[in-house]
Amino acid sequence: MESNDRYRGIVALRALRAYRDEPLDDADLTAIIEAARWTGSSKNAQNWAFVVVDEEEQRRRLADCGTYTSPVRDAPVTIALVEEPGGYEFDTGRVAQNIMLAADSVGVASCPVTLHREDEAAVVLGLPDGARCRFAVALGYPAHEAAPGIRGGRKPLSELTHSNRYGE
Ligand SMILES: Cc1cc2nc3c(=O)[nH]c(=O)nc-3n(C[C@H](O)[C@H](O)[C@H](O)COP(=O)(O)O)c2cc1C
Repeated sequence: MESNDRYRGIVALRALRAYRDEPLDDADLTAIIEAARWTGSSKNAQNWAFVVVDEEEQRRRLADCGTYTSPVRDAPVTIALVEEPGGYEFDTGRVAQNIMLAADSVGVASCPVTLHREDEAAVVLGLPDGARCRFAVALGYPAHEAAPGIRGGRKPLSELTHSNRYGE
């Protein structure tokens, strides 16, 4: 296969945690949320909601709901991914990846974040009964360029792929 920009962008996508102290451009944010909206979901149920958190106090409160949440504290915007009743974590993962890829395509850095204390996150976000939020994506213009290949390598394909049966 001949490599192309889209493929290279997918493979080079990294979680970035250092952002410029600058609000996100409305057009960039809208493009990112639009990409989230178009994510495919099981039975096209779209059992999700996106809470855009950009107030400083609210970002701090959300960051307090997880253990490794410095990106939420530092980024100008975090999108909290809400799973509504009947939603699947798999779908939420797809939304997160769409958000990250769309963000990257408009020059915005991103980092997925776990809200380990999701009961607290539900209170901070004012979620209705039955809705939960365990994951969020922090967004901001990158403070510096990512160095693909240097941070966080990956297991070799030979360790990950099997043929027809696990272990073969
Ligand atoms: C489900 C999930 C949860 C994550 N939670 C956090 C988190 O709470 N804090 C954080 O800094 N990074 C978090 N990350 C980012 C991972 O640490 C990162 O993707 C991994 O180290 C690989 O880094 P790279 O993509 O930059 O190579 C999370 C990633 C995923 C997929």
